[in-house]
Amino acid sequence: MRVLVTGGAGYIGSGVVEELLASGHRAVVYDNLYKGHRDAVHPAAEFVHADLLDAKALHAAISGADAVVHLAAHSLVGESVQEPAKYYRNNVVAGLALADAMREHGVRWLVFSSTAAVYGEPAKQPIEETDPTAPTNPYGETKLAFENALRWYSAAYGLRSISLRYFNAAGATARCRERHEPETHLVPVVLQAAAGRIPEVTIFGADYPTPDGTCVRDYIHVSDLARAHLLALQALAAGHAGGSYNLGCGGSGYSVMQVIEVARSVSGRDIRLRIGPRRPGDPAVLVANSQRIMRDLGWRPRLQDLREIVRSAWEPLKP
Ligand code: UFG
Repeated sequence: MRVLVTGGAGYIGSGVVEELLASGHRAVVYDNLYKGHRDAVHPAAEFVHADLLDAKALHAAISGADAVVHLAAHSLVGESVQEPAKYYRNNVVAGLALADAMREHGVRWLVFSSTAAVYGEPAKQPIEETDPTAPTNPYGETKLAFENALRWYSAAYGLRSISLRYFNAAGATARCRERHEPETHLVPVVLQAAAGRIPEVTIFGADYPTPDGTCVRDYIHVSDLARAHLLALQALAAGHAGGSYNLGCGGSGYSVMQVIEVARSVSGRDIRLRIGPRRPGDPAVLVANSQRIMRDLGWRPRLQDLREIVRSAWEPLKP
């Protein structure tokens, strides 16, 4: 397959490209490099440096594609509350431009990068796909809006899609690692502190109703996440009708404090902590029930142990 990967120069996108190429597919990375990195684009992939709202570039890139993996998006919860227009424009308007270009060029298979943020403050854990979606910020809202648009596009236009609701992506592969500016995600922040690049880690709240008072999340290795995109594409090509899937390792998740303990042990370094106030919009616990994708697509996490996930992210960082 010739697969157009929007956001293919980003953290997860570059992992997806790696998986696609390793499985013998061709990849065209389409990225405006707003957050992505040119050197994250795999040398064996084609690269189009353009925005999704650049209609000419988009139509040129999409003609001849068999399928699309759409990851290009803004993805910071806090920023989305401050600047909803930015999120609606990029995550919804630009997404629809992509879906319409697909219709025009007869490209019928799309894998969409969605998020656990579509669930908002879930009433129960682990979260199942049938649980209510009630986003509490524009980031989750715009991702859900596009998921919903895709359902209608499927019914009316035959554009079949699978939305993957990521929980907490972490870890690195030989080619892809997390390099956000500024970095806000827990695992890279903690490892930056271990490497001495920042003085300390602030824990955003230690008074949550969890065993140690800090938030619990479901960390999934980026290569396991990436492989799910490949399985989703294969399923669409084999006639899968489309739908949404949770993507996490499940179990009981790991608290912020547990992540820090694991990072201390993996790096062998001290990590200074400060307990700060809660970060607005953080649910206490987010853990996936990923039975549906295991059953339907045969997906299984290979790097489930948090130590291995953290170790993979530490390797390229260690001084
Ligand atoms: N945290 C800290 N200190 C930090 C950074 C994070 O205590 O310096 C805590 C957060 O408060 C949270 C946990 O670590 O409890 C994980 O935070 P991340 O920012 O790494 O990840 P989130 O769970 O907030 O966000 C992830 C994705 C989002 C997605 C969200 C779904 O990165 O894109 O899950 O709710 F929207």
